[in-house]
Amino acid sequence: MFDANQYALIDFGRGQKLERFGGVTVRRATPSVSSVQPRQKTWTCDAAFKRNARAGRWEHESQPADSWSVEHAGKRFLLKLAPSGQVGVFPEQAANWEWIQQHGDQINGMTAINLFGYTGGTTMALAKCGVAVTHVDAAKPAVTWARENAVASGMADAPIRWIVEDATAFMRREIKRGRKYQIVVADPPSFGRGPGGDVWKIQRDLPTLMELAAELADGALAMLILSCHTPGIDAGNLKQYARRSLNLRQGAGEAVPLTLTSESGAILPSGDCFRWKA
Ligand SMILES: C[S@@+](CC[C@H](N)C(=O)[O-])C[C@H]1O[C@@H](n2cnc3c(N)ncnc32)[C@H](O)[C@@H]1O
Repeated sequence: MFDANQYALIDFGRGQKLERFGGVTVRRATPSVSSVQPRQKTWTCDAAFKRNARAGRWEHESQPADSWSVEHAGKRFLLKLAPSGQVGVFPEQAANWEWIQQHGDQINGMTAINLFGYTGGTTMALAKCGVAVTHVDAAKPAVTWARENAVASGMADAPIRWIVEDATAFMRREIKRGRKYQIVVADPPSFGRGPGGDVWKIQRDLPTLMELAAELADGALAMLILSCHTPGIDAGNLKQYARRSLNLRQGAGEAVPLTLTSESGAILPSGDCFRWKA
C-alpha cells in the first residue's frame, strides 16, 4: 500500500473514482462501479478526465503542476496528466511490489523480463531486490518515463535494460539469442500496438505469450506475476492461461484480485492477478 499522503482513493461510485496522488486530486472513469453510489455527496478535484465517443481530455478545475511525484518504498514516480487519462502509476500494483519485496532474499541475483512495463514500478521493485531486469514496452514515451523514474529513485546504475519493442516480437528474438529468464512479469492491456503496428489482443495473444515465457524460462522459472485489467478475464482465468504452458506443479501460486481501498474502507476492484513462486 502507498502511504496515505502519497496516494489515496477518496471515493468511488456512478462509474467514477476520485483519487489523490500526492497533493493532486483527480477524477476519472471506472466503469466497473457504475451501479455503486459514492459515499460523499460532492466531489472536488484539481483535474477530471472526460471521455466522449472519440477521445478523452483532461479538464482542470484548478491547475495542477505540470508534473509532480509520489513515492512507494523508495521508488519515485514522476506523474503528469497524460493524454491517455493515466497519471503514471497504477497504485493497485503496490500489492505485487510488496510481494516481490517479501521474496527479495530468494530472488537476489536472478534475471527478470518485465513485459508491458509502463512506467517501471515492477521493474524498480525487482531491481531493488538485486534482480537484473529487462523492461519491455512498445511505447517509447513509457520507456523514457520509466527510466526517469529509475533515475529519480536513485537507481540510474541499476542493472536494467530498457527495450522499446513489441512484447512477443522481443520474446521471440530473445529465444533465438538463447537468453534465459528466471522471473517473468506481464501486465498486458486488453488491446495494444507494437512500435511496428503489430496488434496485441489479450484474448487471442495471451496463450502465445505464456508459451514464449515457458521457452524463455527453459524449465527454471522461479517467479511469475501475470496481471490484467480486462473485463471477462479474472484471476482464475489467468491461472489457467499460466498453467497451460508453464510447469507450475511445484511451488505456490495464488489467484488474487487487485483492489484499491477507499478512505471509508470500501473496496474498488482494479484488475486481476495470478502470481507464483517456486
Ligand atoms: C496496463 S499498462 C502496464 C501497467 C504497468 N505494468 C504498471 O503496473 O505500472 C500497459 C502497457 O503496455 C504497453 N503495450 C501495449 N501494447 C504493447 C505491445 N504490443 N508490446 C509491448 N508493450 C505494449 C503500453 O505502452 C503500456 O505501457
